[in-house]
Amino acid sequence: MQNTKDSVVVLLSGSGSNFQAIIDASKNNELDIKIKAVISNTPGVKGLERANRENIPSKVINNNDYSSRSKFEKSLLSEIKKYSPKYIILAGFMRVLSSEFIDNFNGVILNIHPSLLPKFPGLNTHKRALEANEEWHGCTVHIVTKELDAGPPIIQCRVPIKKDDDDRLLASRVLIAEHLIYKKAIKLMLTKQLIYKNNKLISLNEDLITPVQITLE
Ligand code: GRF
Repeated sequence: MQNTKDSVVVLLSGSGSNFQAIIDASKNNELDIKIKAVISNTPGVKGLERANRENIPSKVINNNDYSSRSKFEKSLLSEIKKYSPKYIILAGFMRVLSSEFIDNFNGVILNIHPSLLPKFPGLNTHKRALEANEEWHGCTVHIVTKELDAGPPIIQCRVPIKKDDDDRLLASRVLIAEHLIYKKAIKLMLTKQLIYKNNKLISLNEDLITPVQITLE
């Protein structure tokens, strides 16, 4: 039988719980994808164990083994190209990708970011949201463009900030939301409910306004 599933390659740097949520969604037919490979820039991380357990080919391309970012990215590029993926899924991939790299994959790199972008791009988002006395925090899946954490958002999940939250508690609730929305974002793109064109996300369905908004109470 011909395999009609859309192929993806996952890039990660750590625990890979988002990667696991995507594996689970593909196993229970919520997502019609084939995860062709996983690439980690960090050796020994749990995300690689998860790949092993699922018999998904994995590879470490350790940025510390390269004398420059462009050499590291060249290696990353040639590994990804082996699989001709439809989408590249960044799932806790903690390296900033250069414009030159992103040019190779216009509109087909997705990222999950733990904040309600455009609020709190960059690192330490949970701590910053608490310090800013926000009522709501959350996460965003977006298209990766040359400007960090600024590509068109596909979907967001709002998570209320509670009175006794610290950044660890808040992060753990946001992570649950991340697991919920990444698979939905991938599906919205793969099924062409949303189309990326001229740096924008377009929907032909009037009821589908981006970013799609979900709330986790
Ligand atoms: C997530 O919070 C993601 O938003 C951020 O890094 C974390 C990765 O978690 N970019 P995991 O490796 O998927 O568990």
